[in-house]
Amino acid sequence: QTDLPLSGKKVVVTAGGTKERIDPVRYITNDSSGKMGYQLAMAARDKGAKVVLISASTQLKHPFGMEVVAVESAQQMSDAVFKEFESADIVIMAAAVSDYTPETQATQKIKKKENQMVISLAKTQDILATMGQQKSHQFLVGFAAETHDVAEYAMGKLEKKNADMIVANDVSKPHAGFNKETNEVTLFSKDTPPIELSVRSKRDIADSIIQEVIQKLSK
Ligand code: PMT
Repeated sequence: QTDLPLSGKKVVVTAGGTKERIDPVRYITNDSSGKMGYQLAMAARDKGAKVVLISASTQLKHPFGMEVVAVESAQQMSDAVFKEFESADIVIMAAAVSDYTPETQATQKIKKKENQMVISLAKTQDILATMGQQKSHQFLVGFAAETHDVAEYAMGKLEKKNADMIVANDVSKPHAGFNKETNEVTLFSKDTPPIELSVRSKRDIADSIIQEVIQKLSK
């Protein structure tokens, strides 16, 4: 069916910000609301895809017509993504995954120290880059949330992470990025000039990203 071009395709979307536990009551996280990822999941669903939405904690309601997998940490997100990866046709990494996690997780609440307190952080796995190394047939879409030199960093991520598309998100712009209703992005792919999507609702941005992916897959 022409109006359901993703029918028969499995699309995995990640959304929200991961939480990295320091102790039972404290964690490191970021400002992601999950809105961008949820809109992408719904846009893919509405094009006929079987969608698995892997969601870090958000305030959003689970969308209907898809499987939602709730995760907390970067490690849990990685485990959930790789469970689906082999059978996925398209993976879209809209989640804000922590690059670092506390080296050790205290099982009891850490008590106040006399003076300074130091938390040692270990690097997390780069899920997108690992998929980039392992991919066979999968189409990989990553994001690049940047505050400066956006195009340069986005093109760097396209190359280094071996993604098929990077959605460059200049999060310093007033109507774009974390926890906003709207977004403004540029799509970078290896074989086509960048596509600029000016300020519009996250749903409209999501529709345009999905449309572009469909077009690339049909070639
Ligand atoms: O959730 P909202 O409030 O709607 O906000 C949307 C958003 C700003 C979170 C979203 O549009 C966005 O830009 N998401 C990516 C945020 C991010 O982590 O960007 P990054 O440039 O640090 O990471 C680059 C890419 O690698 C991303 O696709 C990210 O999911 C992925 N990554 C990052 C770290 C890691 N350990 N593993 C990863 O796979």
